[in-house]
Amino acid sequence: MRLSFCCTDTDAQPWLDGLRAALPGALVEEWTADSSAADYAVVWAPPQAFFEQQTQLKAIFNTGAGVDALLKLRLPPGVPLIRLDDAGMAVQMAEYVCHAVIRHFREFDVYEAQAAQGRWAPRPPRRHRDFPVGVMGLGALGERVSRTLAAFDFLVCGWSRSAKAIDGVQCFTGEAGFNDFLAASRILVCLLPLTPETENILRRDTLARLQPGGYVINVARGRHLVDDDLIALLDSGHLAGATLDVFRSEPLPADHPFWAHPRITVTPHISARTLRDESIAQIAGKIRALENGEALAGVVNHALGY
Ligand code: NAP
Ligand code: GLV
Repeated sequence: MRLSFCCTDTDAQPWLDGLRAALPGALVEEWTADSSAADYAVVWAPPQAFFEQQTQLKAIFNTGAGVDALLKLRLPPGVPLIRLDDAGMAVQMAEYVCHAVIRHFREFDVYEAQAAQGRWAPRPPRRHRDFPVGVMGLGALGERVSRTLAAFDFLVCGWSRSAKAIDGVQCFTGEAGFNDFLAASRILVCLLPLTPETENILRRDTLARLQPGGYVINVARGRHLVDDDLIALLDSGHLAGATLDVFRSEPLPADHPFWAHPRITVTPHISARTLRDESIAQIAGKIRALENGEALAGVVNHALGY
């Protein structure tokens, strides 16, 4: 079995070593323009030339959860595209989102500013019931985030394309449930895949439906959010703040107004990193399953775009 590795902006050697150890007997190589035909591809942001040259693939493994960039390429028809399914990302996402929600709810941002001025000024306690959290997307990451927030006694509602039942989470479904979901939320977390249906979903008319004093946490993709609409709703006072990990253009340009906005917290797309060892174990396990003719989780549905 031959495996071709083509991950942009990635130190290839530890991945090659790890894949060779996990798949003894497989020929694992970093892709070059004159590589031989491989059976399996392990990719992140590969050039189109990769797929022009690799014409005998049995499956393509993406070393991330989101496949929006990959689906813009011309992919070989009929070859399964498999994305990372948690692989250590869900717990990181739960840490990040809970940190952002709790920082806002417990006003730790205010205490940080007070401490910088040497001010001792306790504020009145807040009630969980006044800060319901809505999680858009209840997949590998959104479900874990929802359950973790519920464990902190937040009122959690979730929204997905197909109906779900998650303990401690009020679940809303599809377009029919969208406005009720927004109206039930004060803090909004976006964990949707980027598809034609979800692009620009965080815009003026949808964010305006959040409860007053709304707070936006976008950890999915920058193109879910209409930047100017967020700023307008923050400046009008309808929204209290935002924590953003993903942006339309990354790195976020130095002159982008998000950097300087006093109520926006920016992080550099780090909410859930690809963990090499966990990812290699998952990919190797799935290659073995494919070789045995077994069904796999995490196969992308091209029609849905995720
Ligand atoms: P996933 O398992 O595919 O889950 C996606 C969820 O979104 C599912 O619940 C799905 O509904 C729902 N959904 C999709 N389209 C919808 C629509 N039109 N209306 C309502 N719900 C819809 O994905 P995941 O692994 O949780 O990852 C989610 C996204 O997070 C990724 O696509 C990626 O862009 C982003 N991400 C970001 C980082 C970071 O570091 N910032 C890291 C990893 C991932 P169904 O359950 O009904 O299918
Ligand atoms: C990161 O953004 C991913 O999609 O894994």
